Amino acid sequence: MMQIFLVFAGVVSCAVALDNGLALTPPMGWLTWQRFRCITDCKQYPNECISEALIKRTADIMLSEGYLDAGYNYVGIDDCWLEKKRDENDRLVPDRERFPNGMKAIADYLHDKGFKFALYQDYGNMTCMGYPGVLGYEAIDVQTFAEWDVDYIKLDGCYIDIAKMDTGYPHFGKLMNESGRPMVYSCSWPAYQKEPDYASIAKHCNLWRNWDDIQDSWSSLSTIMTWFAENQDTFAKYAGPGNWNDPDMLIIGNYGLSLDQAKVQMAIWSMLAAPLFMSVDLATIRPEFKEILLNRDIIAIDQDVLGKQGLRVWNGSRCEIWRRELSDGSYALAFVNRRDDGTPYVIKASFEAMDIPEQAYEVQDLYKEDADRTFGPDGEFSTRVNPLGVKYFKFVPKKSNEILQESQNQKKNYSVNKI
Ligand code: GLA
Repeated sequence: MMQIFLVFAGVVSCAVALDNGLALTPPMGWLTWQRFRCITDCKQYPNECISEALIKRTADIMLSEGYLDAGYNYVGIDDCWLEKKRDENDRLVPDRERFPNGMKAIADYLHDKGFKFALYQDYGNMTCMGYPGVLGYEAIDVQTFAEWDVDYIKLDGCYIDIAKMDTGYPHFGKLMNESGRPMVYSCSWPAYQKEPDYASIAKHCNLWRNWDDIQDSWSSLSTIMTWFAENQDTFAKYAGPGNWNDPDMLIIGNYGLSLDQAKVQMAIWSMLAAPLFMSVDLATIRPEFKEILLNRDIIAIDQDVLGKQGLRVWNGSRCEIWRRELSDGSYALAFVNRRDDGTPYVIKASFEAMDIPEQAYEVQDLYKEDADRTFGPDGEFSTRVNPLGVKYFKFVPKKSNEILQESQNQKKNYSVNKI
């Protein structure tokens, strides 16, 4: 009897909890919102309006210019893709002028090129920009998304009673599970709540927006970084394969960040094991920003299979050290300078401040600004960081035979010098 009960309980919990096996590393791609917002006037802004043309053009560039190769494989439409009214069968209708061939055609186009298709909706009566939301139509909408071959749903939380989210988001996820189509589930659920139940959120969603929307400025970026650092003990532990905290889109390449500040965002997002969604006009992005987005070494940190979120481990004199443990036993270490003095600032750090084991390391600069160097097993690490900038390193532990070899070489050099 007991056995039967356990089997039954297992089945029930499987159906309710998220079991889609997706997003084992943080999803990467491109989303319309941060750069293109709710531009719907295609006559006046033909290259910027939320439309089939924008999606196709972006996917073409992502394919031909190496973004797909680097891992950015989701192409997503955020808000403002809908007609204001459902059809006579209560189905959602994409804007007839801007998406003349419907959403299945977009999915086909993206899939043919090797991409996956992400789409926005909202759990409430309306999306944040006032288009029809899913409330009351959850089952039919999930079925519609599955029929359109959507691969990823971002479910926002405007125009809904916040108290309903704790049951509503799991319910929608259950419908997604039952649809038979594997779809990544991105929830905005905690972003609307004061004390989110992260254990439940992680059980039901692949990723979740924890907090406020990012805006195109350093002040917005640095506020988000501070909030993530100050609250890390609450939610960092829930990150892992299939489950990610989401500090929002990358603003790299737009109007608001300097080159140094853009490097900070890429470093800290990879530190946080964050989803990497660009939101930028890839047709006009400047090459130096493109280079940051395509930095393979930093993408590799973000995508590390251990999936352990990095933490801010030291904070003082308006400088910070962030540290992330990686699957190969090495560490990513970011030294952030939040000072706006007119000159680079030297940050000196003990092993304790960096929160890494005392041993010898090969230190690789992930932005390739400094030469690789050896550090440890004792002493202080020192690096010079630009104002509102970052130095980002991978600390690879040296094997004991490498250390032995090095000390023998040193001895040899010493005796040669002596002679
Ligand atoms: C909310 C979300 C944003 C974006 C907009 C669209 O503000 O947090 O990421 O999706 O809605 O209206």
